[in-house]
Amino acid sequence: MTSAAASGSATAALPTRFCGIELAHPIVNGSGTFDAIAAQRAFGPALVEQFPFAAFVSKTVTLAPREGNPPPRLWELPAGLINSIGLPNKGLAGYLTHDLPELAALPVPLIVNVMGFTRDEVAELVSAFAERDEVAALELNVSCPNVETGLIMGADPAETALLVERVRPLTDKPLIVKLTPNATDPGAVAVAAEAAGADALSLINTIRGMALDPRTHEPWLGGTTGGVSGATVRAVALAQVYDVAGRVSIPLVAMGGVQRGRDADDLLRAGATLVAVGTESFRDPLAGARVADELTRIRRPDARPGARARG
Ligand code: SIN
Repeated sequence: MTSAAASGSATAALPTRFCGIELAHPIVNGSGTFDAIAAQRAFGPALVEQFPFAAFVSKTVTLAPREGNPPPRLWELPAGLINSIGLPNKGLAGYLTHDLPELAALPVPLIVNVMGFTRDEVAELVSAFAERDEVAALELNVSCPNVETGLIMGADPAETALLVERVRPLTDKPLIVKLTPNATDPGAVAVAAEAAGADALSLINTIRGMALDPRTHEPWLGGTTGGVSGATVRAVALAQVYDVAGRVSIPLVAMGGVQRGRDADDLLRAGATLVAVGTESFRDPLAGARVADELTRIRRPDARPGARARG
């Protein structure tokens, strides 16, 4: 479906198979950290021609439209960010009408991330995307820390299993379950998701955190608490990926503080099949391509710039 040339990186030549999907290299984006539609408007066709990721993971889609959390939504840390975005999106109908046609035109496979507040809601979302040929795979967000219920379905192995069992029969597309690090034992959730029929797991989502306004000493974020990401969570991500990889046999999409090819290489060595770049794309929208190129130089020191992937 895609080629190294279409994957955005000039030199990345690390063909990777993930849940039956052929990718030019193992670097994708973390859901919600790269707006491909806005980026196209900002950077023009060059962005599509040199798309920075080997597959595109969409921002979370919910059944109904959401405004998201009140501002402020971000707090910068010495080595990362706290976000309290709250899943703003157009809702399923708006996504299908407005976003899907544009995202389907990207030169890489599309993975749609969905979240519901009940199992029935998730089932409706999965059923709707199951029929869409434009969608290569689905990611179930059971791990957002920024919703008003405060409920994280994926913090509990039994809840996660019930959800995956409910939606598994609704689609043949690969189902990726996005795990939360805000669980007593993320590895137990991973095992439950695999047993219930997940095809892959992604981890880690953000770690719950907060900041106080230095003047008022009240919570800074409109949502009071938020999710910590960036380099500051990298060691946590590596430990959780290593643990989960030892407990399941399905492929992992690993993320958490990836800024360099070396960080991606560490996560692959810990057992991941794909690596997502998230917070780093806020600073450098082409970070994904840079990480892929650096990773290629680490893994294939013989690869020449401009060399195409074989296979
Ligand atoms: C958000 O929109 O609040 C972040 C998404 C997530 O953490 O899953």
